[in-house]
Amino acid sequence: MVSKLKAAICYLSYSGNTEEVAELISSTLNQKGFELDMHRIGIDAPIDPKSYDYLFLGTFTWEMGSTPDEVKEFILEIGYKPQNMYIFGTGDTQFGGDDLFCKAVDKLVKFYKSKQTGLKIEQSPRGVQESKVRGWVEGVVKHAIEKGENIRTYTS
Ligand SMILES: Cc1cc2nc3c(=O)[nH]c(=O)nc-3n(C[C@H](O)[C@H](O)[C@H](O)COP(=O)(O)O)c2cc1C
Repeated sequence: MVSKLKAAICYLSYSGNTEEVAELISSTLNQKGFELDMHRIGIDAPIDPKSYDYLFLGTFTWEMGSTPDEVKEFILEIGYKPQNMYIFGTGDTQFGGDDLFCKAVDKLVKFYKSKQTGLKIEQSPRGVQESKVRGWVEGVVKHAIEKGENIRTYTS
């Protein structure tokens, strides 16, 4: 029996925007036959990062472009920098304009030396931004497969 590709989608969301992005990522990967675990940062039991082909980490951006404390704690909980970490997030340009928009995503991409650019969504992904989310996920998966990264067992 050949096992499916496995992904964890870890996210922090207070008012639901980042959670909506996490759900869109989940439905896109689900259509691709991935086995998925959703992990609500600060709520669910810790994950074992080594058991996943892909790790997605999602956050909103807080006070003056900062990363929420819960996300920092999650990073400490993981305890090392997995190479298969892909970053997404939501923000709002009303808080500091383009310079601070989704700044936490930029910081985490840099921290993990993520192989893909981070996904930045303004508020809710519903509507026109949905295709941006799906396109980003396609890009992450395609890039990793082409480069032969992450993949333990790829079946199709
Ligand atoms: C006090 C406060 C500060 C914020 N600061 C920023 C910021 O610096 N940059 C940014 O892009 N968004 C900022 N935001 C907007 C949130 O990141 C945005 O609303 C996000 O979608 C919330 O995510 P959630 O619905 O998953 O909780 C701020 C929001 C609040 C309430």
